[in-house]
Amino acid sequence: MISRRTFLKSAGGVTLLALKPLGRGLFAAPALDSPRLPLFTALPYIQPGAGSVLTSDAESMVLAWQTVAGDADFAVDFGLSPAYGRSTRPSRAERVAGRGGDVEARLNWVASLDHLRIGHKYFYRVRGNASVLAEGYFTTRQARGQKIRFVSFGDNSYGDVSDRAIAFHTYRQNPDFVMNCGDNVYDSGTDDEYQRYFFPVYNADVAGERIGAPLLRSVPFYTVVANHDVQGKDPNGHEVANFTLNPDALAFYTAMHLPLNGPEAPAYPTPMMGPPERIAAFRACAGDRYPRMANYSFDYGDVHFLCLDSNRYTDPNDAAMQQWIAGDLGGTDARWKFVIYHHPPYNVGREHHAVQHMRVLSPLFEAHGVDFVLSGHEHNYQRARPLRFAPAGRGRSADIGAADRRVPGTFTVDRLFDGSRRTRADGVLHIVTGAGGKHLYEPEFTDNPSSWIYDDPGSDHVVKMVSNRHSLSLFDVEGPQLTMRQIDETGQELDRIVVTKAPRTT
Ligand SMILES: [Fe+2]
Repeated sequence: MISRRTFLKSAGGVTLLALKPLGRGLFAAPALDSPRLPLFTALPYIQPGAGSVLTSDAESMVLAWQTVAGDADFAVDFGLSPAYGRSTRPSRAERVAGRGGDVEARLNWVASLDHLRIGHKYFYRVRGNASVLAEGYFTTRQARGQKIRFVSFGDNSYGDVSDRAIAFHTYRQNPDFVMNCGDNVYDSGTDDEYQRYFFPVYNADVAGERIGAPLLRSVPFYTVVANHDVQGKDPNGHEVANFTLNPDALAFYTAMHLPLNGPEAPAYPTPMMGPPERIAAFRACAGDRYPRMANYSFDYGDVHFLCLDSNRYTDPNDAAMQQWIAGDLGGTDARWKFVIYHHPPYNVGREHHAVQHMRVLSPLFEAHGVDFVLSGHEHNYQRARPLRFAPAGRGRSADIGAADRRVPGTFTVDRLFDGSRRTRADGVLHIVTGAGGKHLYEPEFTDNPSSWIYDDPGSDHVVKMVSNRHSLSLFDVEGPQLTMRQIDETGQELDRIVVTKAPRTT
């Protein structure tokens, strides 16, 4: 008879040992434990942790998991070989899950694995009440000069078969990490939804097109806060996390562990409403991640990533935020610069083309040599030609909460770049990669430019749009060359561009 360990290994290099699925997103440790461990609601998963700049021997990684309430003696062993050599104990934070009054006490367990080397593979093992529960591995961030591969998509987890196909094809590409563009779970960004739609798909025990893949146990997953992470509405219809409806709202700030180098007190933090004791419990669990984790940056290889909160409760004209962005982009020596936020400013879809407030940041990005802006929100794939944009004033960008936040201005479009023969881009490449799993918008717009909606007279900046199938963006960055491929839910390539820079002389 084949052992579970052999089966899991053959299914994709997975080394999870002892936690067995019970259904309904619950997992149990072996019955021989004494005392019995609480049931798991999220299997151990890797998160990038608080690190931003690359510092040798100061790299860290977070290993987290979630259980129902209960006592447990957990420990994590880790090291450069399966002999481990170092150990740490997780911290625990209380959390509730469920809707309205139907709530259940949970615990979020977090082990921080610190003082790691850059660009090394590490092995880890989770123990509970002396039993080995899980084994796995991860690789820390790559240093400058190393080639990297990452996958990006947004608007994904709803437990649909399309989410699972994108997870599977992400896994097949063997990325160093995932850079999600927001709306990571539907509909309301709660722990309950993470448990049902996110962890089972991206941390599945086996890989399959209709199953998902064991990504999260070895691949760091970065994400940005987006509208479905904050899905409640206040009496004025503005987005707010509603703790009356969802005591487990804002799981972005409690389940995720991302760099904490953004503004400590942003001018427009994610708003909250509901019983003060529930909000206090959320704050206790989130700690210094709320509201700071909404904006952050990090380096990976030769790329600097700046991740921003573009939700409708923010005003990108905020001077302090612009100052922080300028300092961040101006302070990095990375060869490539990416900005990631959810609301795409140059999108030609029907649903969200008027949500253009982030356009006011384009001059700042251009001045600091940003190469790519990745967004989601529109549930399809759109690639624009390299462009520069000069806003004609603020337009409606400061109309916080409004659905129409149009910003007129002047486009300068690089029409010579084609990503194959001509690979030097004069301007920023804006990519919408919001076809990560949720139902698609405007399938009839695929490769049909006459149907695309332009608010700007005479503009034609979008060069490719695929909205009739789900897809992911795959980036390979090696020195002065970058290749982006758009891969669909069957693994087929939909689009490809190569971007090059002049080699560095220093
Ligand atoms: Fe969205």
